[in-house]
Amino acid sequence: MSSNSVFSTKEPGHLFISPSLLSADFTALGAAAQLVERAGADMIHIDVMDGHFVPNLTFGPPVIKALKKVTSLPLDVHLMIENTDETLGWYLDAGADLITVHVESCVHLHRVISRIKESGAAAGVSLNPGTPLCTVKPVLADVDMVLLMSVDPGFGGQSFLEGTVGRIEGLRGLCLEEHVSPVIQIDGGINTSTVVKVARAGATCFVAGNAIFGASDAQAAVGEIRDAAYRAFLM
Ligand code: DX5
Ligand code: ZN
Repeated sequence: MSSNSVFSTKEPGHLFISPSLLSADFTALGAAAQLVERAGADMIHIDVMDGHFVPNLTFGPPVIKALKKVTSLPLDVHLMIENTDETLGWYLDAGADLITVHVESCVHLHRVISRIKESGAAAGVSLNPGTPLCTVKPVLADVDMVLLMSVDPGFGGQSFLEGTVGRIEGLRGLCLEEHVSPVIQIDGGINTSTVVKVARAGATCFVAGNAIFGASDAQAAVGEIRDAAYRAFLM
């Protein structure tokens, strides 16, 4: 684990909510970040898409740099790009606090993760829903977080893939074998209902876009998703 403070300053058992700006009003991203900060979100999820790794284009380093100035929340940057090895430095320089890279797009995964950690940021590694869990095993001891995608990435508002629950259990098994305990983040189709399933399975960090910024009251939605996740342990 790195000494980065994205996760380490919270008490054990803390559940993290990371609202995804992908579903926010793109003409007012700063205001959207500040809104969820006031609602008690733990970080801001920034989906970087390049039109190659996924069939969509979103934000790049200048937008991350601009957001850094208007929120004190950690920036959780999810890279859905093809040339991670070549462009990683752009995102580190822009001020990302947590950078998640996809195993499917990194040619030299250990090198990429080392560079993230050496820069002082936290390192996450992500798998698409169709990627075998064993592909993350070689770096499990090196990362702060594993992001299991619960939709094929590219768009907000897609339906949660139910097979994700079994994949969380499988990942926890791998972590036990390796004697490590990275944070498990889930991204795609998370709402007050699906968050219960993934929290019970062992995930502790939840990305939500449509369920927050598509709601009539985004601030209330942050609290409702968090409450539902904590309630999962009482049922
Ligand atoms: C999907 C992105 C997600 C997306 C999730 O490719 O990685 O972060 O914003 O959106 P919802 O919560 O609407 O499924
Ligand atoms: Zn994402």
